[in-house]
Amino acid sequence: MKNNLSDRTSKVKFSPIREIFDLASKTPGLTRFEVGQPDFATPIHIREASKSAIDEGLIGYTPTNGLQVTREAVSKRLSADFGLEYDPNSEIAITVGASGALYLALRALINPGDEVLRPDPGFATYDEIIKDADGIPVKYPLIPDKTFSVDVKVIESLISEKTKAIIINSPGNPCGNVIDEMQLEEIMDICEKHGLFVISDEAYDKIIYDQKHVPAALKAKDKYNVLTIGSSSKNYAMTGFRIGYAAGDKKLIAEIVKFQSLSSICADYVGQKAYAVALFEDQSETTKMVDEYNRRRQYFVSELNKIAGFNCSSPDGAFYVFVDISEHNPDDWAFTKYLIEQVKVTCIPGSSFGDVGKGFVRFSFATSMEVLHEGIEKLKKHFGTKLDS
Ligand SMILES: Cc1ncc(COP(=O)(O)O)c(C=O)c1O
Repeated sequence: MKNNLSDRTSKVKFSPIREIFDLASKTPGLTRFEVGQPDFATPIHIREASKSAIDEGLIGYTPTNGLQVTREAVSKRLSADFGLEYDPNSEIAITVGASGALYLALRALINPGDEVLRPDPGFATYDEIIKDADGIPVKYPLIPDKTFSVDVKVIESLISEKTKAIIINSPGNPCGNVIDEMQLEEIMDICEKHGLFVISDEAYDKIIYDQKHVPAALKAKDKYNVLTIGSSSKNYAMTGFRIGYAAGDKKLIAEIVKFQSLSSICADYVGQKAYAVALFEDQSETTKMVDEYNRRRQYFVSELNKIAGFNCSSPDGAFYVFVDISEHNPDDWAFTKYLIEQVKVTCIPGSSFGDVGKGFVRFSFATSMEVLHEGIEKLKKHFGTKLDS
């Protein structure tokens, strides 16, 4: 029997973070900050919408590009919130999460050997999906001293003949950085100058503090040079529904839909019905969640900065703090394991998001104030505070 695996399997890796999850699952009494998903229950009106979809009983395949009602909901939301106009019939596809949209977009865009720029630190999956599409990931550094902002000159210096596209992510995972309007304009300018396509991962667009999200497509001279990717997961606490979208040029959307027809046929019917309600109905549940994240952010950042050898800037979006722990140990993997085993607190090693993350760890504050408080007390007890030293 020829059951030996394809060459492709050795090109793509599982996330090394699995090692941390395994260690955490074996260690009792942990205070957990590694989880990258909302701790809130999906708002009740969204759950009710999914129940009614089930009660209707007409749970079949949907069109490959998604239910009309869900595409229209995405289109209306993008128009109402940002003044971005996309035709729901041809310029929007509903996908299996933002992950599905990213995966299919790279399949549709990348030829073997094409280089794709991605942020470092950045969502680790980017590297693997670029490689799986036979592309080459090229990391552009975010600048730790400047709250992980982008340096457009550095990005430009990494562009080669082979560079096809750039992935940008704002608000960003793992640093919670937000690319400001001026930087967005500069990125769009260099992309136009060098003929680069922009994949804008805006999965956290509603989780932003003290400012309003600006979609990259708004800053492009031609919005069709940008593929906007969004998600129900974080904005509406719907990670398990697995619904996201891609909005952009109709030729690219058609190819994304073609590849979706091969991989999953369509996104889940019940999830699409629920997402349409999430997008159409009033947004106050999301506002409440973001207010609570903001309260936690203020507490957590201020308390973490009091701990000896812990230094972090305040994130402008998402629900992560990226903490410099290099005074304790420049090896963030060893530090994470130490934290789990000795302090009974979990986090994610920064270098799993890219080389710039070396000496940092990511804490998620998508957890209750009680858990944040418990973790802070453990850390203070173990490491002491800056006032003590
Ligand atoms: C930056 C970023 N993009 C995309 C995703 C995937 O989101 P989804 O659940 O919509 O697939 C995540 C998930 O953590 C993320 O952090």
